[in-house]
Amino acid sequence: MLKETAEKALLLGQPKTREGHVATYIPELGKVDPSGLGICIFTKDGEKIRVGDTDTRFSIQSISKIISLAIALEAYGKNKVFENVGMEPSGDAFNSLLKLENADGTPYNPLINAGALVISSYMVQMYTFEEVLENVRRLCMDPDIVLDIKVCHSEMSNLSRNRAIAYLLESKGVLHADVEKTLNFYVKMCSLSVTAESLANLGLVLAGGGIHPVTGERLLKEETVRIVKTIMLTCGMYDGSGEFAVRVGIPSKSGVGGGIISVVDGELGIGIYGPSLDEKGNSIAGIAMLEYISKEMGFHMFGQRKN
Ligand code: DON
Repeated sequence: MLKETAEKALLLGQPKTREGHVATYIPELGKVDPSGLGICIFTKDGEKIRVGDTDTRFSIQSISKIISLAIALEAYGKNKVFENVGMEPSGDAFNSLLKLENADGTPYNPLINAGALVISSYMVQMYTFEEVLENVRRLCMDPDIVLDIKVCHSEMSNLSRNRAIAYLLESKGVLHADVEKTLNFYVKMCSLSVTAESLANLGLVLAGGGIHPVTGERLLKEETVRIVKTIMLTCGMYDGSGEFAVRVGIPSKSGVGGGIISVVDGELGIGIYGPSLDEKGNSIAGIAMLEYISKEMGFHMFGQRKN
């Protein structure tokens, strides 16, 4: 049933890819084929569903923000992490500067660029990029995740907006490390190359409250995972989070590389690749596929399961 639903979702999603556009503000991402589409669903019972382009490597982009948040929570604890980052949806675009100047400079949440930069400033004090990369590979159960140097250079050379955000944060006293070092770490995290499969694996770890689905090993604390999933639900799709929660009702996080990770709590992880984006920077076909699957399977967190 789940496999057929995923196959139908792919067919439904394919024409949608023509309605969006790949991200071009990071020129390297603009070279990607917009028609790519794939979905991976890994369940707690070991079922592995792969439909479409599930082994294409693509840029993780903003999905790395949930990994950085999880690692920072493990290292610093929630009180420290949320000293200078809020827990509220911003209602603005992911790269907005609007609300930073109005308030005390504390970003609304860890999943917008400003919030992720504050989290990155914690991370660079504690870890090298290589150490974090090792952790990402472990969480995604994918030893082949690497830094895509071309994407990294491409974003580093087109970084005016994030630079502006980071320097504004520094001026407000909420950045905890050197600005350029923080930006460098943030961009490297966004430039990791993953597959829909790596995201489904991570989704399954989150669905299981932080436990590795095969070995039973605890990879993340329960509290960390609870916080990450809650913020994914309220802020994971940026200024599209509210509508997405109503229509799909599955905690998710998107990236401008075309990825979406989704978590059906206690049950399964979903990884999607579909680089054609809507105007909010979310995978246009990815959202359509998730909406279909959620409806057909009853995956909405406030809905009735159908099996
Ligand atoms: O900072 C940026 O703009 C990108 N590296 C990440 C943005 C992103 O993925 C937003 N997602 N939908």
